[in-house]
Amino acid sequence: MEAKAKPAPPPAIRKPPTREEIMERIRENLKGIKHKIIVLSGKGGVGKSAVTANLAAVLAKEGHSVGVFDYDFHGPAMARMLGVLGKSPSALPFGIFPVTGVLGIKVFSLAFLLPDERTPVIWRGPLKAKALQELMTNIIWGNLDFLLFDLPPGTGDEALNIAQNIPDVKGAIVVTIPSVVSTVAVEKSVEFCKKLNIPLLGVIENMSYFKCPYCGQITEVFGKGAGKRIAKDESIRLLGKIPLDPEMARCLDKGSPMIVCKPDSESTKSFEAIAQSLLQLLS
Ligand SMILES: Nc1ncnc2c1ncn2[C@@H]1O[C@H](COP(=O)(O)OP(=O)(O)O)[C@@H](O)[C@H]1O
Ligand SMILES: [Mg+2]
Repeated sequence: MEAKAKPAPPPAIRKPPTREEIMERIRENLKGIKHKIIVLSGKGGVGKSAVTANLAAVLAKEGHSVGVFDYDFHGPAMARMLGVLGKSPSALPFGIFPVTGVLGIKVFSLAFLLPDERTPVIWRGPLKAKALQELMTNIIWGNLDFLLFDLPPGTGDEALNIAQNIPDVKGAIVVTIPSVVSTVAVEKSVEFCKKLNIPLLGVIENMSYFKCPYCGQITEVFGKGAGKRIAKDESIRLLGKIPLDPEMARCLDKGSPMIVCKPDSESTKSFEAIAQSLLQLLS
């Protein structure tokens, strides 16, 4: 009688990687990036994404290699603002290539993982952390001068996940508008960074004022002096003020940051000045 073939041994159960191993993989994958910078704010709608997109574009225009990671599950905006909405990153067996947007900016947005802009993500914190770890291990950024992380409002899961999973973050830029409601929320973000030892690069006062295009009169629509006050109270730099510019929303909706869409505008000049301060700070 023929001997029965031995049953194949059960597949070896692979142990899940330890936290140290995960961190090592992320560190290895991000080692070609010089400056990792997060853009955050306690409040929504104050212009974090607009600042990220415009700053990325100004830096790219000046010849820096720039990537943007949109870590906003609930309101990802970078794909639209950087002109790559509807495109998909190429996923290969060895990694995922980000999409190349306006001015050569490498973009990865959580919007790429969703079927359309209206589909909500209903995920709890740990899943968001896992997604961040997976993406940071697998996205092939290559060598970059800057990788900007656009965050959702507040100091919740996403901000904490970045703080705990991204090694060597160069610093945080906090964005506020001049209203008291916004400044109070932004001060929380500042305290959050201090508690987690994330260096504060400075505060940007967005929608600082509106300059009438006809008579030049300036109206401080949301109040006055918030950026200066936060900078003083929290001992951080005021990186700059950006006017409320109706063209900005229109241009970003079309996927065109101000340096491309309205290169001579006052808001473009503000972003250029902010980029210069940032470069000086990092040099
Ligand atoms: N300085 C500005 N002037 C005009 N519109 C702006 C300005 N900053 C941001 N916006 C617009 O306001 C809206 C909210 O900004 P967004 O960057 O999405 O806010 P956040 O990311 O903080 O939630 C967007 O449509 C954006 O284009
Ligand atoms: Mg946003």
